[in-house]
Amino acid sequence: MGSERTARYARIYEQLRLLVDGQSPSLIAAMATISAVLHHKMPHHSWTGFYHVAGPDELHVGPYQGPVACQVLRGDGVCLHSVRTGHPVVVPDVDTFPGHVACDPRTRSEIVVPFVADGKVRAVLDIDAHEPSQFSEADIAPLERILTLLIPFVS
Ligand code: SME
Repeated sequence: MGSERTARYARIYEQLRLLVDGQSPSLIAAMATISAVLHHKMPHHSWTGFYHVAGPDELHVGPYQGPVACQVLRGDGVCLHSVRTGHPVVVPDVDTFPGHVACDPRTRSEIVVPFVADGKVRAVLDIDAHEPSQFSEADIAPLERILTLLIPFVS
């Protein structure tokens, strides 16, 4: 990851810390604020948002920015894979990921980072791009850091 993106993540974290920490009234409000800031500060994002874990094999869309997305994910896909493994997933080319769910057929690459609280995956942060190879392992730590802002909202 270039130093420009590293610096941008640092600025975004600071902005979000001020907006969310002690300010957001709810988990949904905090997720909406994170989606909005990340989406508008990162020009390569085509979709930025959350899916909540709604059952053993089912995710429901949460706050997001970008084109209208699938409201329910069941069975397959990058997001469910991340929930099942509890690990982030970087997909440089969505065509090579078996079961990828194409809510937006223009999506070429994506990253999914689980939000874990009290040892349980509660939701995932899903970010898509219209160009291939827009994300790498280096994006994981700064995104996980942003997700720590959500922990106070989970009881
Ligand atoms: N990429 C996801 C589907 C959600 S949309 O892209 C917003 C997946 O395969 O799980």
